Amino acid sequence: MTQRYSIALIPGDGIGQEVIPEGVRVLSALARRHGFSLELTEYPFGTDYYLAHGVMIPEEGFEALKRHDAIYLGAVGDPRKAPDHVTLRGLLIPLRQRFELYVNLRPARALKGVPTPLKGDPAFDFEVVRENAEGEYAGAGGALADEVAVQTAIFTRRGTERIARYALERARMRRGDLVVATKSNALQHGLVFWDRVIREVARDYPEVRLRFLHADALAAGMVKDPRAFDVILATNLLGDLLTDLAGALQGSLGIPASANLNPERRYPSMFEPVHGSAPDIAGKGIANPIAAFWAGAMMLEFLGEVEAARELFQAIEAVTAEGRVKTPDLGGTATTREVTEAVLSKLGVSA
Ligand code: NAD
Ligand code: IPM
Ligand code: MN
Repeated sequence: MTQRYSIALIPGDGIGQEVIPEGVRVLSALARRHGFSLELTEYPFGTDYYLAHGVMIPEEGFEALKRHDAIYLGAVGDPRKAPDHVTLRGLLIPLRQRFELYVNLRPARALKGVPTPLKGDPAFDFEVVRENAEGEYAGAGGALADEVAVQTAIFTRRGTERIARYALERARMRRGDLVVATKSNALQHGLVFWDRVIREVARDYPEVRLRFLHADALAAGMVKDPRAFDVILATNLLGDLLTDLAGALQGSLGIPASANLNPERRYPSMFEPVHGSAPDIAGKGIANPIAAFWAGAMMLEFLGEVEAARELFQAIEAVTAEGRVKTPDLGGTATTREVTEAVLSKLGVSA
């Protein structure tokens, strides 16, 4: 019997509209080759939908999305049309919070053939496990008469324990090393609690080497010697900052991907590039689709199509290693489509 996966597509805004269709071409080719089928449903949620309907997504939109096996999302936000906090708090963040996508897994790997900004192009390979449902993004607070604003980070035992456990499991599967990003030297309530709960959970993982680094020093360390890291566990905001830094270390924000996971699979998990809608290059057809492909590969892996995911990773790296077809962010002149075609040809399928 053919395995079928029901995938919700939300291309969203800006280059999301350009990279998701390319990702779909690559994923569909893999599906044909590996004998599974992708049932794709596209949703129009995004800034234009908001301008037309007054909401980024209607309540029944969440219900519809819930019925899929996974969500493949491009990017959300177009500051020229609507304020970012309205669009992002209207769609992306609610999806992460309502669907309990509390893990945001963001691999950072130096791809062959892609120069990093670092001396000697070190071959690093680490993962950031970003807490994705609470912390600084909890949304608690308010503003009074435009004169004072309060935004409170919330760290719960349940939320901290579950992300700690996920990161420790991940470290155990990899090289057994976990660095926790903290700022407990300054944030004496929230992050002292964060450190303490993680230390408690880590007692169940004596085989994992555990270190706590203040996020400022960690950021510097990531630039000085990114090979020193295996798994990094970070709060929501610190993880956001560290993964754009990691993207720059990988040579471009057009490369890294992000898996928003509900490990218990009670809700569909959501796969997207780390990057945003890139208004500065949107509409030009030159966005790098690799981050979207990588996100697609993570989606296949999570769905259980491990072999197809591996092939896609290999095809991406075969293209970068060759260095012939690359978009302008990587110093080339190729279009988004040309990169897709190069990946398809490495997969042995004609475009
Ligand atoms: P951005 O990631 O969109 O762009 C930052 C820089 O990286 C830009 O110069 C852009 O051209 C470049 N870049 C990003 N992706 C690229 C790609 N695939 N190929 C080539 N170059 C690429 O960040 P920003 O400019 O701060 O944000 C733009 C909008 O996107 C804002 O509305 C922001 O809130 C939103 N955003 C959304 C998401 C998301 O939906 N997951 C993530 C980040 C930012
Ligand atoms: C990301 C983005 C989002 C975040 C924004 C757009 C709300 O930067 O996915 O990294 O901060 O999580
Ligand atoms: Mn970000």
